[in-house]
Amino acid sequence: MLKFECHCTYVRRLCSFLGVRNLLDATADLKRLFREEIDLQEADAEGSYISRTLAEMERSGEDVSACWNKVDGIKRLEEQMIELFAAGTDTTATFLEWALLYMSAHPETQRRVQDEIDWVVARKTAAAADPAAAAEEEEEEGSVALSDRGDMPYTEATIEEMSRLTPEGAIIVPRMALADTRIGGQPIPAGTVVVPFVWGMNRDPEHFGPDPDLFDPERFLQVDGDGGGGYRFKKHDRVLFFGTGEREGGGTGWIKQ
Ligand code: HEM
Repeated sequence: MLKFECHCTYVRRLCSFLGVRNLLDATADLKRLFREEIDLQEADAEGSYISRTLAEMERSGEDVSACWNKVDGIKRLEEQMIELFAAGTDTTATFLEWALLYMSAHPETQRRVQDEIDWVVARKTAAAADPAAAAEEEEEEGSVALSDRGDMPYTEATIEEMSRLTPEGAIIVPRMALADTRIGGQPIPAGTVVVPFVWGMNRDPEHFGPDPDLFDPERFLQVDGDGGGGYRFKKHDRVLFFGTGEREGGGTGWIKQ
């Protein structure tokens, strides 16, 4: 029922109010820049995200619009570059800085994460040495991948705990109620703009008490019910690091990898 409202006129007015250059003009500049980059990389079919996507378009056949459900493939690629650049660079860098800080401040957590990584790498290295197992499991020696997360509950819990404590902003993108509704019993008439306060949600003592400011990855771990003494990662649906619903961060899949 809640929808993000985005009007170009609103963006223009906001930019002029804040005294910054018009966001839409800046986006047009970025588009030109990325178009130049795409043209440059057309000749080189190796390596980068752009050149790989172009190669995939070629492979997928007839014309570029065969890609992405008939949407003009090149135009879509330009848009992806803008998303990656505008929404993906600062957010990712900031989170990695926080992650390094938390790992430095909590050496015991760092050691446990490292132990898990070492254990997975050793297991994969051993599997890669066995040609039959390697062919079956497509093990990649010497590194961890998203597919290993089931074997890394403590690392997952640590990432979740860092995400809980360091949302990219105190608030996320506003929504507008399209019809009368309620949130937590509170009536929200149609047309109301709602601003999700994720900082407060992530530190809500009712859900993360009694000490919600404490860095404690264990709050996302649950003892396995098989009696073996192991534990597994337990996601909490209140941690909205990438936002939620239709507007959930476009880069969620990329970032998790
Ligand atoms: C640690 C990294 C990142 C964090 C914490 C993050 C967080 C967020 C959040 C909180 C939102 C608002 C969602 C909402 O209001 O429900 C958002 C939106 C978005 N993010 Fe990210 N993001 C990250 C990386 C990326 C990357 C790498 C990309 C692009 C490849 C990306 C693309 C987008 C896009 C396109 C939106 C707007 C989605 C929409 O409104 O439809 N993000 N992100």
